[in-house]
Amino acid sequence: MSYLKAAEYVLSKIKYSPEIAVVLGTGMGELADSLENKTVIPYAEIPGFPPIGKNHHKCRMVIGGLDGKPVVFMQGRLHYYEGYSMAETAFPIHMLKAMGIEKIILTNASGAVNTDYAPGDIVIINDHVKLCAESPLRGENPEELGERFFDMANAYDKGLIDLCEKCAADIGMDLPKGVYAFMAGPQFETPAEIRMLKILGADLVGMSTVPEVIAAAHCGVRILALSGVSNMAAGLSGGGLNREAIVSAEPIIRNKLFMLLDKIIGELI
Ligand code: HPA
Repeated sequence: MSYLKAAEYVLSKIKYSPEIAVVLGTGMGELADSLENKTVIPYAEIPGFPPIGKNHHKCRMVIGGLDGKPVVFMQGRLHYYEGYSMAETAFPIHMLKAMGIEKIILTNASGAVNTDYAPGDIVIINDHVKLCAESPLRGENPEELGERFFDMANAYDKGLIDLCEKCAADIGMDLPKGVYAFMAGPQFETPAEIRMLKILGADLVGMSTVPEVIAAAHCGVRILALSGVSNMAAGLSGGGLNREAIVSAEPIIRNKLFMLLDKIIGELI
């Protein structure tokens, strides 16, 4: 299993076994810079890791201490729209599981389908809708990781959600909870697709995270997923969607997430 070799390699570079990993979403990479005594391992260096394209600068693991607590930050993730298979997008989760990681905090940037949200908001994902692309676990089941058929009703860990809400309240944040719809991208959705997703019960839309959630639920890793709203989804605001419209909310999201992660990780370890 190539994820075992990958995990072995990473563990050989550090002298301890962190229990918590954080996957940083688009625009959130800087959050890893604050770790103490960092060990940096580019994904491209890890045996068995899916190949990293030229445009993927800063695609690396940053492992170190957050207020003295050991944590792994995954800086940059593999997206289906980049050409990775769904199974490949889940590879880092299998590697983290094999490293002994027990809890994963997944972060992402998303478009808001729910018009009560605004750019800059952080939303706790408590469920998802996946209409497109195959499961990352399609094919022979890796029995050593989990069962063929498995529950998704508790994929978003209720204990971690409660803890996150408590941490948020402690720092004066009131975070809504919402359903995230996975779309394959790379094109943004059409306004008609967004109207459809709203009817289906989605509050957020994005192009990541769900393959990782499926893989983590399968192998029994507890998940907390936090989404930073970077824009209103297609058709919900006057302007069109483009990269510039999306990056403008990034600093606000980063600041809020940093405060939250600091608090949550402090409570978890
Ligand atoms: N749609 C899909 N993915 C996204 C969006 C969006 O509106 N914003 C950020 N990621």
